[in-house]
Amino acid sequence: MSEPILICASAEVEEGGKGVRFPVQVWGDACTGFVVRYSGQVHGYLNRCAHVPIELDWEKGSFFESSGLYIMCSTHGAVYVPETGYCAGGPCKGGRLRKLAIEEREGQIFWQPDEVVKIGIALADAVPDKPVL
Ligand code: FES
Repeated sequence: MSEPILICASAEVEEGGKGVRFPVQVWGDACTGFVVRYSGQVHGYLNRCAHVPIELDWEKGSFFESSGLYIMCSTHGAVYVPETGYCAGGPCKGGRLRKLAIEEREGQIFWQPDEVVKIGIALADAVPDKPVL
């Protein structure tokens, strides 16, 4: 298993605010992952709606809907529970986002790639520095 990958400093992911995107690969396709902070915890997901496999954010890094309670897909409005990624309403109700293994320690946020969601090309080039999106 590869080493955890540094995504960003903890201070860059504010409670209920913008998330941080980073490049990943899924079965060789270039995609993005993201981290957001909710109830003090950082959560990470593949940036791909469970309904149609397209990115969720309104504009880059904007994942929460107006109440700040849910992650929302900007295309058809599916809402996801931030802690679990389960779809709570919308066209993919019962589906879920693909969770990523995220760890926060010593003021930094790390991602552990797995067998399906692997390190993206740009991130591989950037390691160990911060990825450029
Ligand atoms: S593409 Fe996300 S709700 Fe349909």
